[in-house]
Amino acid sequence: MSASAVGTGANLALFDDDDAPRIEPLGPGAVVWRAGARAFDTALLVAVDQVTAQAPWRHLITPGGFRMSVAMTSCGPLGWVSDRRGYRYDPIDPDSGRPWPPMPDMFMPLAQAAATQAGFDGFEPDACLINRYVPGARLTLHQDRDERDAHSPIVSVSLGLPAVFQFGGPTRRDPKQRITLVHGDVVVWGGPARFFHHGVLPLKAGRHPLTGEQRINLTFRRAR
Ligand code: SIN
Ligand code: FE2
Repeated sequence: MSASAVGTGANLALFDDDDAPRIEPLGPGAVVWRAGARAFDTALLVAVDQVTAQAPWRHLITPGGFRMSVAMTSCGPLGWVSDRRGYRYDPIDPDSGRPWPPMPDMFMPLAQAAATQAGFDGFEPDACLINRYVPGARLTLHQDRDERDAHSPIVSVSLGLPAVFQFGGPTRRDPKQRITLVHGDVVVWGGPARFFHHGVLPLKAGRHPLTGEQRINLTFRRAR
């Protein structure tokens, strides 16, 4: 039954119809779970602040010497780092010399629930990469292939300003879907889609009530 069909009880419903979580298939092995993280948005953002208090945002340098427009940090047993030597997962935050902050309690069950929605049971991420986009920031088309575990999916949670996510195929040239991801949307790709190319177009200016002029993205991965 839809929330609006509940009659006067609708006032008590958690979501209006537009906000109710729902699954949109993207292709074999890939789904968008619309609004999947909506109910946890405030807690997720508080948790992100706690992580960045210990492991501050930074603009990593690509092996080619470019400064990434997206600011990043990580939590969990492994964090993703990039520098002139290459891309890798590392248990130590190179900026602090200390382990990455632990994954906040609520991250794991959310990542697991999302993976299950896409048919990937038993997901045990050991890395959560956190991205911050300000207007103009983007992520060029790439594959996530620094993880040793090819069986686990990638789970990506979007918060704050909307972004256009490009989702292609196994080669760079494959046709790309353009999907607008809004606050609370979760994308999962694994199995036949695990190494599909993807990216984020330059963020448009705007203001979100919870994040201001930013988009925050969490990606959960099994790296080891
Ligand atoms: C990523 O590709 O690692 C992040 C994607 C996103 O920010 O939506
Ligand atoms: Fe990626």
